[in-house]
Amino acid sequence: MGWKRSKLTRAGEWRLEKGKEAMKQMRIVFAAAGVLAMAGLAHPAYAAGDAAAGEQIFEHTCHLCHQIGPGAKNFVGPELNGLNGRKAGTAAGYDYSDAMKKSGITWNEDTFKKYITNPQADIPGVKMIFAGLDKHSQRDNIWAYLSQFKADGSK
Ligand code: HEC
Repeated sequence: MGWKRSKLTRAGEWRLEKGKEAMKQMRIVFAAAGVLAMAGLAHPAYAAGDAAAGEQIFEHTCHLCHQIGPGAKNFVGPELNGLNGRKAGTAAGYDYSDAMKKSGITWNEDTFKKYITNPQADIPGVKMIFAGLDKHSQRDNIWAYLSQFKADGSK
């Protein structure tokens, strides 16, 4: 009787081992697929952002201080329409810090993403009290959202 049980046990262990092996292989396949997907999607400089996800970020974080879209007004911070190509510190009627006015920056994908990663580090003395968006995907998404708006607030 003893041999039978041990044979069964061994068969069970064998199946278990095979199962683990298959799981490992699946993980490798998934990891490889992930890398390929990322390589395929990557823009030469940036991944394409998701504007809908960017809108969520805007609503939850930026909207506390900024407005964008039709009829947007300066608030705690300046309105953000037509940001792509706009010179820093130039929203009409907004009282900027000297640091922002003298930054010499023109907002585009590059300058904006650098700024929003850590505003205080990018432009010392800036009065935007915001720690920054430290994830690439957040910066891709918020830029995809913001850059849709023209100077008149339309998309
Ligand atoms: C706590 C308030 C606050 C929050 C939150 C905030 N900002 Fe600001 N932001 C400001 C202020 C104030 C300024 C003006 C800075 C200055 O003059 O030094 C500013 C300036 C800016 C500018 C420069 C605009 C220009 O006209 O040159 C951009 C771009 C900007 N913010 C984007 C964002 C985005 C995107 C978010 C969300 C991820 C955000 N801000 C969150 C307060 C805020």
